[in-house]
Amino acid sequence: MPILNFENRLFALETTHISYIFGLSEKGFLANIYWGKKIPHVEDFLENPCPFSVVNLSEPQILKEEFSAFGTMHFKETALKVTFSDQVRDFRYRLSECQVENERLELILQDEFYPFRIHLFYEVFPEADLIRRWSSAENTGSEPIVIERFCSAQFGLPGTGYTSLNYNGRWGAEFLEQSDPVTVGKKVHESLYGLTAHTANPVFLVHKNATETTGDVYYGALSYSGNFKVTVEAVNAGFTNILIGMNDTDFSWRLNAGETFTTPVVYAGYSDGGFEKMTHTLHSFALEQLIPRELADKPLPVLYNSWYSTTFSVRCSEQIELARRAAAMGVELFVVDDGWFIGRNDDTAGLGDWYVDPEKFPNGMNELIDEVHRLGMKFGLWIEPEMVNPKSRLFSKHPEWVLSYPNREILMGRNQYELDMANPEVVDYLIQVLDELLSENAIDYIKWDMNRYLSEAGSPTREPRQWKELHFRSTEGVYRLAEELKKRHPKVELEACASGGGRVDYGALERFDEYWPSDNTDPLDRLFIQEAYSYFYPVKYMRAWLTDDFGMNQRKLPLAFSMHSSMCGALGIGIDLNRASDEKLQEIAGYIADYKKIRNTVQFGDLYRLSSLKNAPLQAVQYVLDGQSALFLFLDHERFGETWHTVKLRGLKENAVYEYELEGKILRKTGAYLMQFGLALHMKGDYDSRLIIFTEKEA
Ligand code: DGJ
Repeated sequence: MPILNFENRLFALETTHISYIFGLSEKGFLANIYWGKKIPHVEDFLENPCPFSVVNLSEPQILKEEFSAFGTMHFKETALKVTFSDQVRDFRYRLSECQVENERLELILQDEFYPFRIHLFYEVFPEADLIRRWSSAENTGSEPIVIERFCSAQFGLPGTGYTSLNYNGRWGAEFLEQSDPVTVGKKVHESLYGLTAHTANPVFLVHKNATETTGDVYYGALSYSGNFKVTVEAVNAGFTNILIGMNDTDFSWRLNAGETFTTPVVYAGYSDGGFEKMTHTLHSFALEQLIPRELADKPLPVLYNSWYSTTFSVRCSEQIELARRAAAMGVELFVVDDGWFIGRNDDTAGLGDWYVDPEKFPNGMNELIDEVHRLGMKFGLWIEPEMVNPKSRLFSKHPEWVLSYPNREILMGRNQYELDMANPEVVDYLIQVLDELLSENAIDYIKWDMNRYLSEAGSPTREPRQWKELHFRSTEGVYRLAEELKKRHPKVELEACASGGGRVDYGALERFDEYWPSDNTDPLDRLFIQEAYSYFYPVKYMRAWLTDDFGMNQRKLPLAFSMHSSMCGALGIGIDLNRASDEKLQEIAGYIADYKKIRNTVQFGDLYRLSSLKNAPLQAVQYVLDGQSALFLFLDHERFGETWHTVKLRGLKENAVYEYELEGKILRKTGAYLMQFGLALHMKGDYDSRLIIFTEKEA
C-alpha cells in the first residue's frame, strides 16, 4: 500500500525505497515527521507523531509544516497568503477530510470561520520512487477571496546548514552550477522574467556533503514555465523549510464564489546515493511517464539547422543545396530556422505573420519540403508564436493583443512585443494559423522559440484588477497552444527554445519533445552546461549541435572534440555546409555514423558523470544501456606533462566481458576490472577527446 492513513492523524507515503511521513501536531498543524530511506514499520511513529519542542518558540513556528499560511504565529516563509473580503489575512484550519484513492491522497484543510478550503494533493509513484504534490484553493462562500501567494508545496528537513544547489546563468551561459550553504536566513532562486529564463531553474536540490555517488539528496522539480520561486530557509527553530511554486511578486488571484484555483505540480524525491541516483530516478521517470507519449520511445533524429549558415537570408535554392549536402552526411531532419516568413529579413519585422514569404519561396515551401523528403529526411521549421513585431500585419490589425500599460511606451526586447497569451482569442487565433501551417505543409518538426522577457503585465482587453493574474494565465495560454498543436499533429516533433535555454523546466518537458539548452555551442562551454543540465533533465531532451566558430570565446577546437561534445546529447549539425570542404563533410559524416551506433545508449541509457573538468583534469561521461556502454573523454589541456589517465567506469556488470577498442587494439576486460581498476589511457595536448564503445560479449 503506497499510502497509509492512521486515523486521520498520521500519514505515510511509501515508494519502493522511500518513506515520507507526516501528521497532525498537538495543535492540529500538519507537519513532516520523516522523509528519507524507507522505514517499513510506520507503527513506530504512532505514539508521538510530532515530538518537537524548542525553548520559547511554539507551534507553528517550530514545525516542519506541510503547508503553512501567512499570519497566526508564522514567522517563517509560508506557502499561502490570502485576504478575505473583510481584509482578514490569516488562514486557520482544521483537517476536515482525508481521501485515499489508489495512489493519491487528498487532504482538505477547512478554515475555522471563512468558507475557504485548501486541498493538498499527494500522488505516489512507487516504482519511480517519486511523489507528485500540488495544492488547490476553493472558495465555497459568496464573497470573493484574494490569493497573493500560493506555492505548490512545502517541505521540511531536520537541521540546518544544507547546501542548496541551483544555477546562476544568463543567455549563452545557462546552467552555471551554483551551490550555497544555507546556515542562516533564506536562499531564493527565482524568475521574474515572465518565463523560466536563463538565470535559475524551478527546482530544488539540498544536501549535506553529498557527492555524485554518496550522501542524502532531497530534490524537487516544478512543472511550470512562468515566474517561479524556490526558497530554502534555515529556520531559527533548527530545521530547514523549503517552498516551491509560482512567484508571488506581481501575483494576485481573485477567487470568486464557487471557484477553485489549482497550482502547478512538483515532483519530489530523495536519494541516498548522491546526485547520480537522483539523476537516474528523474531521467527514467521523465522518459517513461512525462514527455509526450507519441515520440517518447523513439530516438531523436540527427538534425541539421541552417540558422548559423544563413541567418535571416533564407532562399529556397540555397536551402535545397544545404539539404542535399546534409542528407549526404547522414542527417535525418533538415530545419529552416528564423527568416522563412513574410517580411522577415532581419529581427525588426515579420513576427506574427506565419505565412511563407513568396520572395524567398517563389514556388511555395513545398518545393523545399518535397526535396527534403525525397532526400529521405524529415522537414522542420522555426516559429516564435508568442511574439509580434510592431512591423507586421498582425500588429497593425490587432494592437490590442499585445501586453501593455496605458500611459507607458511598450518597451522593445529584440525589436518585438509580447502577445497577450492570457487572452483566449489570441491563443485561438494562433491555434488556427499554426494548424493551417502544419496542415498545408508536410512539416515534421517545429522549433518553438521565445526571445523577449515579459515587461508590461497589463492588457487593454482585461480589467486592470486582473492584471496580476497575467503571468499565470499567459503560461496557461502557452500550454494550451502547445497541447492543442500536439493533439492535432501528434507526430510533429516540438522543440522548446527561448533564446537558448530560457524554457527548460518540467512544464515544458511535459509538452515538448526536446529542448535547446543554450545558444552557446562552444564545445568546451557546452560540457559544463550539459553536465549541470543533466542533473534534472534527460539527455534525450538535450539538443547539442556542431557549429562553426561564431564569436563566443574566440576558441578554435579540433573537430573531434567538438563532435564528441555534441554527441553527448541529441546530435545536431549547424555549420555552413556550403562553405565546408568535402573532407570536413566526410569527416563529420563519419562521426554521424558513429553516433547512430550509440544513439539509443546516449538518449535512453543511464548517465554516469564519472569526472568533471570542474574539479578534475578530465571530463568523463558514460552512458549504459543493455549490453552497450559509450564513454566520452575530454581533456581541455595537458597539465605538467601528465598524459596518463585512469578512469573507473560505472554501471557495468561485474562478471560480464566487454570488448572495446583502445589505441588501435581490440581489448576484452570484465566489468569488475573496468569499474574497479579502471581504463588507463593516454590523453595529451590541448582539447584531446575520445569516444570508446564497450560491447558486452559472451564470456
Ligand atoms: C534564438 C534561438 O536561440 C536561436 O537558436 C535562433 O533560433 C534565433 N533565435 C533565431 O532568431
